[in-house]
Amino acid sequence: MKTEHVHAHALNQAHNDLLRDLRGLGHFIQPAEEASIVELRNRLAATYTHVCDQFCLEEQGGYLDDIQVSEPRLQRTIGELSEDHRKLLDALTQIRDDAAVARSVDDVLRHKVRAWIDRFLQHETRENDVIQDAVDSDCGAGD
Ligand SMILES: [Fe+2]
Repeated sequence: MKTEHVHAHALNQAHNDLLRDLRGLGHFIQPAEEASIVELRNRLAATYTHVCDQFCLEEQGGYLDDIQVSEPRLQRTIGELSEDHRKLLDALTQIRDDAAVARSVDDVLRHKVRAWIDRFLQHETRENDVIQDAVDSDCGAGD
């Protein structure tokens, strides 16, 4: 397999792992669920690992790098998306710290997890729009 195919496959795998985490996490924090704080900590740890994997693959030799080279006009947006990665990781670290000292999964913790998932999904939407913009431009549709 070519290097870029291996990279794309790894990114796809990281993305799928992460979506599985987020679906599980979203379900786990529903108010009707009897949620164990230990399980929440484990789920947050797994999510953190998969988020790191995905962000690394997007940034290092990934499509964010590629678009930055092929579409200099999108450089600022790419910079903002990379900054988003750091902010999302910091926010998730903070939630993990909160969960580490919490005795139970309360509404405050549920709200923080839910808000983080929403932020992550907004980031994904913005990233997809940038990729689409670059693809359209590459195909001449953006003119
Ligand atoms: Fe991203």
